Amino acid sequence: MKKTRIAVLVSGGGTNLQALIDAEKSGILKSGEIVLVISSNPGAYALTRAANAGIPGYTASKKALGGQEAFEKEITRLLTENRIDLIVLAGFMSILSADFTSRYPRRIINVHPALIPSFCGKGFYGLHVHEAALAYGVKVTGATVHFVNEIPDGGEIIMQKAVNIRENDTPETLQKRVMRLAEWKILPLSVEKVSAEMANRE
Ligand code: GAR
Repeated sequence: MKKTRIAVLVSGGGTNLQALIDAEKSGILKSGEIVLVISSNPGAYALTRAANAGIPGYTASKKALGGQEAFEKEITRLLTENRIDLIVLAGFMSILSADFTSRYPRRIINVHPALIPSFCGKGFYGLHVHEAALAYGVKVTGATVHFVNEIPDGGEIIMQKAVNIRENDTPETLQKRVMRLAEWKILPLSVEKVSAEMANRE
């Protein structure tokens, strides 16, 4: 069966990208293959992870390209040239326009470090999400993988996993635990689920 061709969009450390690369190696991700990595940041360590795994990596910098429109045009060019079926946002810190997301219905998925609809939407990204969860005083948080539509963090939920908050947690300790216990598990499982569904449809 033809494998779903996956592009992973990143901005930073790329531990979720690494989880996907490892899942492909171990056979957890078997219905899709990661064929392209695009970083919004030229210095992202995620690009080194891609290179180490032999996956072509490119940078699309909003600043260098001159704005959102040129940024999305460059991403679209790379996706089209590489015949991408599924786009995975893995620590991608830019919001994509409605014009962009509407061109890929149910073909973009994102991992968010909280249990949506809590601590999500504009301004809730990276460590800020965990700061907000601790400030609110919730006892349980987690991660969500969802389809991306025109509403930031508003698309259909694919998988969620809860993580308990500990009394002495800092945003940093909580972020690490949410990644290890939730994100790195449900992102590969979700990507396999969606890839398999897409491969069956074709
Ligand atoms: C992850 O916790 C991811 O869920 C979050 O940023 C971190 C990236 O880490 N993403 C967002 O907040 C997107 N709204 P990584 O680069 O090591 O995968």
